[in-house]
Amino acid sequence: MLQPCHGYPTRSRTHVYTEGGLPIIRPAEAHEADDILALFAEEVQAGKMLPRDPVEVRAGIGNWLVATDLQGRIVGCVSLVFFNADLCEVRSLAVHPDARGSGLGGRLIRASLDLAKRRGARRALTLTRAVRLFELVGFRRDLVANYPEKVWRDCAPCPLKEMCDEVALVYDLDPGTANGKGGSA
Ligand SMILES: CC(C)(COP(=O)(O)OP(=O)(O)OC[C@H]1O[C@@H](n2cnc3c(N)ncnc32)[C@H](O)[C@@H]1OP(=O)(O)O)[C@@H](O)C(=O)NCCC(=O)NCCS
Repeated sequence: MLQPCHGYPTRSRTHVYTEGGLPIIRPAEAHEADDILALFAEEVQAGKMLPRDPVEVRAGIGNWLVATDLQGRIVGCVSLVFFNADLCEVRSLAVHPDARGSGLGGRLIRASLDLAKRRGARRALTLTRAVRLFELVGFRRDLVANYPEKVWRDCAPCPLKEMCDEVALVYDLDPGTANGKGGSA
């Protein structure tokens, strides 16, 4: 289970997630934008992930979480993109190939949900091919057409929209809803 650790020596006022000796998940820092982009550059080149504008990443670094190994290297990342105060998207989830298969992807998603909840969002959306991974965390399938905020901003101008094979999934962050237990559960 993810455990917020408010006493982490160098970042006492931010949420840091520990899980045994596994990578730590923490807020990204401004100087880490290039390392974050490098982490998934090959996935972008291979057409498996959408590119992110470096200027936007730097400007919105507060919406990124990174996972670091014991040497401090970034081995995972995830970001939130807010459409409005209620709705955000979990985007740019990536885990370094050497760190895959140990639950880090799921931990990053849960940490992003926790961040979204702390920011006051009521629902998190994602568009992904990694459907099972998100379903395991508690996301449920939905239709992207139900989210015009997403469609108009990202899908409509996308050159791949006619052949999009990504699946929309959502997670309700409100207490009392089906999966609204919060991200750190
Ligand atoms: C997808 C990715 C983040 C998963 O990271 P990970 O640390 O290996 O994931 P986890 O170990 O937490 O996986 C948890 C579960 O999700 C499943 N899962 C992992 N990757 C998956 C994928 N691409 N598709 C479907 N299910 C997946 C695993 O099988 C695992 O289930 P299991 O425990 O029953 O075997 C990683 O493979 C990656 O960075 N891929 C390239 C980028 C990418 O595809 N990002 C997703 C775009 S939204």
